[in-house]
Amino acid sequence: MCGIIGYVGKQKAAPFILEGLKRLEYRGYDSAGVAIFQNGSFSVLKKIGRVANLELEVAKVNLGGTYGIGHTRWATHGGVTDFNAHPHLSSDGKFALIHNGVIENYASMKKYLLGKEYTFASETDSEALCNLIAYHYAKEPVTPQQNRFLTSVRKALLHAEGTYGIVVMCLDHPGEMVAARKGSPLILGLGDGENIIASDVSAIIARTQSVVYLNDGEIVYCTAKEFQITTLALEAVSPTVAKVTWNVADAEKGAYAHFMEKEIFEQPLALENTMRGRFSGDASTANFGGLNTTPIEFRGIERFMFCACGTALHACMVTEHLIEQYARTPVECDYASEFRYRNAPLFRNTLFFVMSQSGETIDTLAALREAKRKGYKVLAINNVVGSSIAREADGGIYQHVGPEIGVASTKAFTSQLLIGAMLALYIGRMRDMSFGEGVRYVTALKSAPNLVRKALEQAPHIREIAKRYAHHADMLFLGRMSLFPIALEGALKLKEISYIHAEGYPAAEMKHGPIALISEHCPSVFFAPRGEILNKIISSMQEIKARKGPVIAIITEGVELPEGLADELIVIPDCHDAVLPIVASIPVQLLSYYIAIERGCDVDKPRNLAKSVTVE
Ligand code: F6R
Repeated sequence: MCGIIGYVGKQKAAPFILEGLKRLEYRGYDSAGVAIFQNGSFSVLKKIGRVANLELEVAKVNLGGTYGIGHTRWATHGGVTDFNAHPHLSSDGKFALIHNGVIENYASMKKYLLGKEYTFASETDSEALCNLIAYHYAKEPVTPQQNRFLTSVRKALLHAEGTYGIVVMCLDHPGEMVAARKGSPLILGLGDGENIIASDVSAIIARTQSVVYLNDGEIVYCTAKEFQITTLALEAVSPTVAKVTWNVADAEKGAYAHFMEKEIFEQPLALENTMRGRFSGDASTANFGGLNTTPIEFRGIERFMFCACGTALHACMVTEHLIEQYARTPVECDYASEFRYRNAPLFRNTLFFVMSQSGETIDTLAALREAKRKGYKVLAINNVVGSSIAREADGGIYQHVGPEIGVASTKAFTSQLLIGAMLALYIGRMRDMSFGEGVRYVTALKSAPNLVRKALEQAPHIREIAKRYAHHADMLFLGRMSLFPIALEGALKLKEISYIHAEGYPAAEMKHGPIALISEHCPSVFFAPRGEILNKIISSMQEIKARKGPVIAIITEGVELPEGLADELIVIPDCHDAVLPIVASIPVQLLSYYIAIERGCDVDKPRNLAKSVTVE
């Protein structure tokens, strides 16, 4: 949440920062601002709303400096106003700061600083930190060897509780930038005669692919030509420079209207990338390079525990189903946000997994730390290389689907489902799954991209259905077994991008309460694949129909429903059980997308949301 970018170099800072903010906008879009150093002072422009609004303001003035910072905000402390937008200046005007995170003790900081005659123009926690830096700068003596600017930021941070990714500029130190992180992501991009600090790679990829991923507790000082990293305790850090493997085009919409649309249609390719090189030579099991766990260790595991948030948790729930079915090993799933506080008793031989597209979700990171603190090995399923979760986990599996920018997760979700299915195969083959069953399973997984391509062909038909249902205020999504989590995911997708109230249930649970909601105004989306409980699902549909509820049925090829039972029919290819959740996700993604379009919603930037949830 919140995107931050700082630039020091030889080019004009403002256009580059604005471009970076647009790429970071998915992290928060309540307001945006820039501070550029020029002619010995800071020019600060801030505007509520999208980066495009800020861009209009910037166009009215001449911002020529080559050193500046910018921010796109997801509000935590203080409403969405121009004053609360970042960057913040210290009341003596010497410092400009951008911040992502929450300074939990800001109230006591503020009280102290008010007593020292510092003033505040905003309601934010971030401004308190900015003034505290100014306070240390004015007050603390430094030795001739110390950089006063860097020292004052470091001293202020020693008093800061909570989370932060910050970039700071100082009027007395033009061309120098100080940044630090604790709990909020930050990277340093190393350019040619320029250095850039940003929340994530998408903001810098146009200039450089060489990055240093900063760790919690580190502080970086940089100019256009050099940088140094230490810990807050002043220990030297030798940086590892990593190469980013994707490019600018991957982070652009191309011919698509929205990132979500692009990412939905990219799924066949994304799935191919997720499984590339990950099957054994005899095509009977999966291989994962980075698990750092021997087959003997895996064999000794008696229980798996999965923690995640939102869509990623739905992928864990499908994985639970598949591991229990194919590897006959118990699995437990939990909301990362609950697990981190509920002090759950865990079995001794438990292997812990966290799943996170961004690798920065603070609750998932906290669950990982909690499990490690309890002495468990934690593996991560994650898309963003070098993310906090990837670095803190003991091993894991990268998704390799490229940047996911649409706030509503789509390609990352189906890739997580695929990895879950591959894990079930991997563990299953270590237990009771035969060679032949393994080969059939691998063949099925390899067919997933084509089956998804086929399901995507339904897009024009689903668009027509969307037109007929977009006006509804409520909708239910009903599925059973491995498709129950897909029902949850369908409901989540719909509500987050179209603001229609939607709920997901196991179809048979309807009679235990939710059926009271059914009327001609509340449609139900049913998953009705072939299989032994199809008749039970049909009975649930009949119960809805008897109460005048419209039924949108997603069936697999070959399924025949009683005449007139479904008002709308979406047919997806029949497939192996391990692939079904992936294929069944496509129609609900498309339905949500097209309904949101019909309702004129901002699909890629739904209200109140942000892509990467780095605050609690
Ligand atoms: C919904 C969505 C969110 C995320 C959740 C976890 O479309 O994207 O529910 O799945 O915030 O995010 P990651 O996977 O980055 O940990």
